[in-house]
Amino acid sequence: MKKNEEKIIVLKNVCKNYKSKKGNINVLKDLNIKFNSGKFYAIIGESGCGKSTLINILGLLDKPTSGQYLFNDKPCEKLTDNEISDLRRDNIGLMFQDYLLNPYMNALENVMLPMLINKNFNKNERESIAKELLEKFGLKNRMSHMPKQLSGGEQQRVAIARSLVNNPQVILADEPTGNLDEKNEIIIFKYLKELSENGKCVIVVTHSKQVKKYADIIYEIKDLELKEVANET
Ligand SMILES: Nc1ncnc2c1ncn2[C@@H]1O[C@H](COP(=O)(O)OP(=O)(O)OP(=O)(O)O)[C@@H](O)[C@H]1O
Ligand SMILES: [Mg+2]
Repeated sequence: MKKNEEKIIVLKNVCKNYKSKKGNINVLKDLNIKFNSGKFYAIIGESGCGKSTLINILGLLDKPTSGQYLFNDKPCEKLTDNEISDLRRDNIGLMFQDYLLNPYMNALENVMLPMLINKNFNKNERESIAKELLEKFGLKNRMSHMPKQLSGGEQQRVAIARSLVNNPQVILADEPTGNLDEKNEIIIFKYLKELSENGKCVIVVTHSKQVKKYADIIYEIKDLELKEVANET
């Protein structure tokens, strides 16, 4: 294991079923896997195979039906909702499939939002961190735009910037480039790669073929299981 590579998230025998009127839907079965710092993971698989379900579990937004989730060696199943929110806020950056921007705040305010409860930064620092990220993703001239005045791809980039402001240890992204053209997709993947090289654990769900150029490890969800696939590039 490299020096900056340590296991952050461990799943042990994780299963996920959804209950519906027509019976149980089994989505994930007996996942045993470790996600390390300093690595870029891609998760692929057909629509409906369970990618978002897995990201929601990894992001502590949903609990496994059975099995264990450990974050930095700490089992999470007995944590209270508040402890889980704190753990998530301080350690995990989430980029959602739908962006969930606050419609009443402009781009800059949306990006600054997760930092409001972060006591490490004063208002000026919060603003400069948010501006720097927005500039990085090509939104220098869109900071005062409201979400409805932004294109889908611009909203997606605002949401990506927002997920990074608290400098999380783990970055979870569900189709982060679904609405982006190739140029912007490459900017995002390169940036995520850079973050992993600087020690972050980056886990990206994607249908994009581009990701193969950046990912260290690719997993495919198929038949309820997660299998590593060879990266030919
Ligand atoms: N809350 C829920 N209740 C019941 N079934 C659900 C629920 N959420 C997801 N499912 C089902 O679980 C399966 C996996 O869904 P999931 O959203 O994880 O797929 P996905 O791989 O992310 O697909 P996509 O690529 O289309 O986003 C699907 O068959 C879906 O219908
Ligand atoms: Mg999905």
